[in-house]
Amino acid sequence: MNILELKKMKQAQQKISMVTCYDYWSAKIIAQTQINCALVGDSLAMVMHGYATTIPATNEMMALHVAAVARGAPNKLIIGDMPFLSYCKGLAETMRVVAQIMQAGAHAIKLEGVTGHEDIIQSIINSGVPVMGHIGLTPQSVHQLGGFKVQGKTQASMDLLLAQAKTLEDLGCFAVVLECVPTELAELITQTIAIPTIGIGAGPKVDGQVLVLQDLLGVNTELKPKFLKTYLNGYEIVKAALDTFDREVKTAQFPTEEHSYKSGV
Ligand code: KIV
Repeated sequence: MNILELKKMKQAQQKISMVTCYDYWSAKIIAQTQINCALVGDSLAMVMHGYATTIPATNEMMALHVAAVARGAPNKLIIGDMPFLSYCKGLAETMRVVAQIMQAGAHAIKLEGVTGHEDIIQSIINSGVPVMGHIGLTPQSVHQLGGFKVQGKTQASMDLLLAQAKTLEDLGCFAVVLECVPTELAELITQTIAIPTIGIGAGPKVDGQVLVLQDLLGVNTELKPKFLKTYLNGYEIVKAALDTFDREVKTAQFPTEEHSYKSGV
């Protein structure tokens, strides 16, 4: 999968599937599925490292996780997130981080927001690196937004988000994530721009959907936003397996002969 195939999917009205992926073992599973893209999102700061927001994600963290995913799922379109403020410190520093993420194995980068970042987005794209935009609820701005809240609920906010989506298209982005926006707005944006829209909490009228892997597997029990559908009771399944292992160790049911080595004498 590459960005041209992704654009063709929109033209052919084929829905695009994307999941977050942060590590080698889940990347290997994803590699064997029909999922189109793996997003190494900065949500890894919360999901993998236990932080309350995505703000603590660092360039080094992003590169380390991108490299693990690239080793596990080289057949997928791998998109690496630019972490908090990493593209707000001038062109040279931005390009240093872009290089770090791309050289770790990403095929594209994603960054949040538009206004004030137009020149930097243009420079990244001009340098030959595909960029996916991200508008609506942009978690790196959580403190400015006053929490993880649905965006685009007023006319002014809807107009701004539509204008931002058009700007991202004009700048040459290959796709845009729409996070936590009303269905009607997501549909309008999707019909207005020619590049794929990937929704999370943006309803069904978009070109594709992305979910955090651990959320859709039901492993992450701390968070249950309205938009989330869980496809597995992962938390209970994993917990039960660990409790069974614990019981078998303590009752000497494991290991048996089957799991033990014999001496040669
Ligand atoms: O960081 C992330 O995982 C994301 C997705 C939820 C879109 O930005």
